[in-house]
Order: sequence, then structure tokens, then C-alpha cells
Amino acid sequence: MNKEFFYLTTPIYYPNAAPHIGTAYTTIVADCLTRFQRLLGVKAYFLTGTDEHGQKIEKAAAEKGITPQAHVDEMFSAFKQVWERLEIANDDFIRTTEERHETGVVKIFQQLKDRGLIFKDTYEGWYCVADETFWTQAQVVEGKCPNPECGREVVWMKEEGYFFKLSRFQNKLLEYLDQHPDFIQPQSRFNETYSFIKRGLQDLCVSRKGLKWGVPIPGDEEHSIYVWIDALSNYLTAIGYPDRENYLRYWPADVQLVGKDILRFHAIIWPALLMALELPLPKIIYAHGWIVSRGEKISKSRGARNINEMIKDFSADAIRYFLLKQAPFGQDMEYSEEALVDRYNKELGNELGNLLNRTLTMLENYFGGLVPEKQTATELETQLENLEFKNRELYREHFSALRFREALAALWEIVVELNTYAEKTSPWKLAKDPSNRERLQTILYSLSEGIRQVVVMVYPIIPVSAQKMWEQLGMEGSLEQLRWEALSADPLKAGKPVKKGMPVFPRLEIA
Ligand code: MSP
Repeated sequence: MNKEFFYLTTPIYYPNAAPHIGTAYTTIVADCLTRFQRLLGVKAYFLTGTDEHGQKIEKAAAEKGITPQAHVDEMFSAFKQVWERLEIANDDFIRTTEERHETGVVKIFQQLKDRGLIFKDTYEGWYCVADETFWTQAQVVEGKCPNPECGREVVWMKEEGYFFKLSRFQNKLLEYLDQHPDFIQPQSRFNETYSFIKRGLQDLCVSRKGLKWGVPIPGDEEHSIYVWIDALSNYLTAIGYPDRENYLRYWPADVQLVGKDILRFHAIIWPALLMALELPLPKIIYAHGWIVSRGEKISKSRGARNINEMIKDFSADAIRYFLLKQAPFGQDMEYSEEALVDRYNKELGNELGNLLNRTLTMLENYFGGLVPEKQTATELETQLENLEFKNRELYREHFSALRFREALAALWEIVVELNTYAEKTSPWKLAKDPSNRERLQTILYSLSEGIRQVVVMVYPIIPVSAQKMWEQLGMEGSLEQLRWEALSADPLKAGKPVKKGMPVFPRLEIA
């Protein structure tokens, strides 16, 4: 809450395929978190991008019969467009083929070399093409990649290359983990990382000979800087490491979100590289679970649906809400369109949308569409306000700790309580007798004000719908500009005209 700056990153995506719901997941979460931080008044900087070098990209381009550059340009546009349609408000988008990145990576490689942490040797051993990772004999499991999330066949390789002295950082990393129990989250990923490091770290091959689609090593152009130094450095090069204003302002990152399949690169290699550069480490590396369908990770090759069509069918907000609510962050999430539609219709449509609709209709019918002045409160209003206050704080606590599902659950207790309050007080019955006028004013004011608070809080998750609800409540301005303090300091004003419009959450049906 007292922080001024907040730097948040997603992994940079391989543009070998268009984004799908699986790759969109991290970006959506990052966006919600960024908007939430902005709501708290923090200057949040949100970076995402594409990881455009390497064999996989060369291969994807060759399959299409175009140059790697033409391929990544095409895919970059596809990513950009999907992010816009999903209402992603990133501050920057880094492409590893950009000049600013390539010069930055060369600088970083050179610094590591100058510190004696890079050496040339011959590599001979197993290599996983899919993971773009070298493995030792002891690590390989029956001829397969030992990454539990990969498990594909490895090939034998012998080539000259540059190595990073990763083994030197084993104890330093363990010490760091001992002192920073929150560095890797969730806890299970921390434990996994810790035992992996304890088993021993080997020096890491960080170049590839003959790879054309990569950043050449200065003075030895036959070799290219390989995947992980290239890709991981984006978090620094994008903000202008080592001396630009954004770097000085935002580094170290506050939260780096990654999928569990790339945990080791981010929890071991990345901090070791930063230690080697004598830079502070990010505060949190959070490895989330996968979006799965019938237990299997959703991916392009496993038939992920075109995300543009999904956005057309369901709306960006429906997808965003579902992904944050469906499973605890960190765990795998079973995705199905039925579950998405059910949740949307029930929670957004019936519980929140109808609450707003009913309230606006009553404001129109009983008060000419103007927010009435609140009169004497009863025990019911006190109870409602207490719950609103308590759950507001809970929402903030959970959201700040990346417990999105729990945050939404706390928020929904307010929504449900507002519905219960409406049922208990039954303003539609009271309206029949003019002597209940004052009581009716208090009830409709309390409902409208309760909804206003919910709208402010839910905005980071469903920005488009929240803005529509905001305007229907008769409020001006963009929710993007609103700050948390407005929840208590700036309640609805009596006399404001509301603007009931089309339902914000029209019912969805599965085609
Ligand atoms: N380019 C590397 C990351 C380099 S970061 C310095 C990479 N790219 S990726 O496109 O393969 O994956 C990017 C992210 O998308 C990973 O965090 C991965 O976990 C995530 N996801 C891809 N499919 C996913 C699901 N089905 N579910 C959730 N996340 C998944 O790895």
C-alpha cells in the first residue's frame, strides 16, 4: 500500500503459434494485478513480450515458407491484437529481435564474461529440443527429458560452446532462499526449487553454434547467445538496464509471473544471473498452474480454440473473470466452456447484473431516476456496512497476496449480502405505501452505494463491464483514474441521475 512503484512481468511468449487461452492466462492475471495496483495508487509498470529467437521459431517459419523475421512480425501483430481485445493494459511490449534488446543482451553477456563467469568448452551430452535444455546423463530419465512437464525424447549432442558458471551460485542461492522464504511462490514451488538446487548445479551451456536466428557473440559470430540468457534478459533490457530512468525506478521487479513449466529457469538460472551481475533479485517469482482440459495442458497442438472466437462468443470480461475465479492461483485449472458460461450467468449475470438492474429500475420507478437521500439507518444498514467494510479489507489483502479467487469470494459476499438485503427489506412492497418514503430512500441509497463500491473493486478484473455499470449508476469519468480511497471518501451523492441501459451481462448460451 505504501509503495510508490511496482514492476510486474509475464514470460515472453514464443511466437511459434498464436496466443491461446493457456498463454493468455498469465497476461490476464498480470493485467488484473496491474490495474489493482493502480487502484491502490501505485505506479505500476507492466511488461510482456515475445521470445523471438531460436530453433523453434526458425522451424515454424520454415514450415510456413517465410523468413523468421516475416514470421515473428506476423505473430507479433497477432499477439498485440489479442492482448488489445482482452483489455490488456501493458506499458511495454518487448520483442527480443528489437535493437534495444539485442544490444542489451550483448552487454550482459560481456559483463558476465568480464567477471570470469563465462568460459568456452566442449559440450557433450543430452539435449532436449522442445525445452531447449542440456541435460546430464544422471538427469535424463530413460532417454527422456527429466522436466516433469516435458518428458520428451532427448538427443545426444557434442559441440563447442560458452558456459555460465552456474555451479558457483549453488550455495549463494540456497542461502538466499533461506533468507527469503517468500521469494518463490507458492510454497510447493519454493520447496521444489530448494531440493533441486541441493542436488547440485552444473555449469550451463549458454550458446549455440551455427544457430542463425539468434544474437551472435561479439568476436565469435559462429556462436549465438542461447535461449535463456537472451530471453531472461528481457526483464532488464526492456526497462533500460543499466542506467535508464525506468530501470532505476522499477528494478527489482515486484512480481514475475511464470508458468510452472519454466519455474527452474526463473527460480535458479535467473537469480544466479542476477547475482552474477550483482543486481538485486526480484521480490517474488510466482509459478502458476496450467489451464487444462480433461487433465491435459491446453496448447495449440492439443486443439486450443482460437481465442479471438472465444472473445467474440463470451467477451473479454467473461474470460478474465472465469480465469481468476475458477481455481486457486498456483494450481491447475480445468477449463470448459460450460463452466465458464455457468459461472458468468450465475455470478455476473444473476448476482451482480440483476442486482444493478433491479436497483436502477426501482430508482426510476420510485425516484424519477435520481439517487435519493439516505435517511435514518437501522440495524440492517449497519450490518450491511460492517460487512462491506470488513470484506473490502479482505479483498485488498487477498488481492495483494495474489489470492485472486479468495479476493473475489470476499467481494462476492458483499454482492450476495446486497441481494439478501434487498430481499429482506423488499422495497417493492414498501413502495406501495407512501408513508414508507423515508425508509425506501435509505434502502435504495444503500443498495446503490453498495453496488458503487463493488464496481470500483471489481474493475481490475472486468474493466469494460465495470465501466458500463459505473456509467449506469450515473457516475462520470474513467474508473482507471479512480483510487481506493474513493471507496469510503467519496460515496454516492443524492440527487444524481442514473442512466439505466442495456443489461451489462447479457445471458450466454453455449452454441
Ligand atoms: N519463451 C519462453 C519463456 C521465456 S521467459 C524469459 C516460453 N514461452 S511459451 O510461449 O512456451 O510459454 C509462455 C508461458 O505460457 C509459460 O509461462 C507457460 O507456462 C504459459 N502457458 C502455456 N500454456 C499454458 C497453459 N495451458 N496454461 C497456463 N499457462 C500456460 O516458455
